[in-house]
Formats: sequence, C-alpha cells, structure tokens
Amino acid sequence: MAPSVRKLHQHFVGEVSGIDLRKPLTPDEARTIESWMDEYAVLVFHGQDITDEQQLAFANNFGERENRKGGNVTRKEEYRLNSGLADVSNLGKDGKPLPRDNRTHLFNLGNCLWHSDSSFRPIPAKFSLLSARVVNPKGGNTEFADMRAAYDALDAGTKAEIADMICEHSLMYSRGALGMSDFSDEEKAMFKPVLQRLVRIHPVHGRKSLYLSSHAGAIHGMSVPEARLLLRDLTEHATQPEFVYVHKWTLHDLVMWDNRQTVHRVRRYDQSQPRDMRRATVAGTEPTVQQQAAE
Ligand code: OGA
Ligand code: MN
Repeated sequence: MAPSVRKLHQHFVGEVSGIDLRKPLTPDEARTIESWMDEYAVLVFHGQDITDEQQLAFANNFGERENRKGGNVTRKEEYRLNSGLADVSNLGKDGKPLPRDNRTHLFNLGNCLWHSDSSFRPIPAKFSLLSARVVNPKGGNTEFADMRAAYDALDAGTKAEIADMICEHSLMYSRGALGMSDFSDEEKAMFKPVLQRLVRIHPVHGRKSLYLSSHAGAIHGMSVPEARLLLRDLTEHATQPEFVYVHKWTLHDLVMWDNRQTVHRVRRYDQSQPRDMRRATVAGTEPTVQQQAAE
C-alpha cells in the first residue's frame, strides 16, 4: 500500500497512513515523506511500535543526526538512554519519575515554553521525531504552531520592521524565564548565546516563517526590555488558536516536525506518573545568519 496523507488543520499537519516505520523506507517513500514535511510541517504517524534503533534509522532518511552535546545539564553517566535518542521523558536512570527538585527535571520543564528545537545552536535542528513509549494519564499534550501562517498574517508594517532582525538565543534565556539562574561557569560557556534571524526562508518552497523560540532573549540594536516585549508580542500573535494544532498522544504515536517552520510546547502533566517520550533529531545544514562557529 502506498502511503497517504490527510490534512488535520486548516494551515498544516498531515496524518500519514500506509507506512510501517519498523521497516526501511524505499527511496520513493523517503522522498514522499520529506516533501510532505515541507508542505505540512508536522506529520503524525499512529500505531508505530518501534525500537530506538528503528526510530534512528527512520530519522537517517532525512539527514545527519544532531549531536545531543550541550543541550542539557545532565551528565552522561546519568543518561537513561544510550541508544543516541534524546530522552524527553520525566524518568531517571532507575526508570522512575525524577524527584520534583531534581535539576534535570527542572531543566526539562523548559519544554513547556514555546520553542523550536536547538535554536540555541549555531546550526539549529531541521526535523525532530518524537515517539510515545509511555503516555502520561493526565495532561502532556504537545502543541504545534505554524510559523508560516503566523508570518503571513502579520501586517505589512510589522513585516518591514522585523525583516532583518537578528536575535540572540540561549538555553539560559528559556530557563531564566522559569526562574533558573544557577548555571555553573562550565554551563555558562556551553550555553553561550548564538545568533538567529527572526524571519527565515524555507530552503525548498521559499515561504517565510517567524523564527521564534523561548531561547530568544535579545535582539541586536535593541534594548533588552524592548526586544523581549517584541518577542513576547510576536509569540502571542503566532500561537493564537487559529495557528495551533494540539496533539493528544496515544501509545506508539510518532510525530515529526520541521523546526524551521513551526514552534511547539508540551503542556503540564502528572509528574508522579511516567511519561516516556524519545526524540531523534535531524541536524540542520546551515546557520540562519553568518556567525562565528561555536568554540
Ligand atoms: C521535544 C519536545 C515535547 C513533548 O521533544 O523537543 O519539546 O511533548 N517535546 O515532550
Ligand atoms: Mn522541543
């Protein structure tokens, strides 16, 4: 059966059927999925009971994988997953929910703020692929917003005003918004701000997107309060219900999204119960603005 897609939202999101992610994709299937990603920006696959290795193999169809280094405060010895997937669960190495005051847990709460994955890296992520291995009983929906539709809906004056703006992104800004400020010198060096354009152009179809993220905390040539107010206003605009799709997880869903044209966040959930989500990340291929590569 050839794969097919059904649109789930007026602007974006496709639900794909007729594909088994446990098996290698044919080159034709891989091209089809990639072209649907360009168009729909988020794809939903139901009933995909896959292993970590199968998830990584699926991700490899779309480019190099991103290295997890520098994206969290967890020491390697404490990683629960050693397969290469990013651990987006609330679980520790012992398989139990992390204590409420655990620093990794507090840091992971940053995913509840609207963001684009690894916008804090000089070359930010292309696609993310998230697999639901254990669904939490209460809350934990993931919401996506279409940054192309949000850009298109701006008035001409705002489009002109923001056209060439350059933002600074760092994990210290997103975590700072939640009140975390106890970064070690090593973390401060690791989380050194990087530059990103505020408006980016999709390399395939050429549509413009707002490149927003809770990691953005400053804009070149602007005072910090003015920059933060503008970013806040734009985020409020871009995440109005008409631009948002809410994904309610069922076991073995796999959702993949294009970080170049969407933002996402997870809603609060029951932290006394497990939620096991695992992510493969496909690296981007170029920076959004020329800058010195991270040391
Ligand atoms: C992510 C993320 C949201 C979720 O994996 O990048 O933000 O629902 N996850 O866990
Ligand atoms: Mn994310």
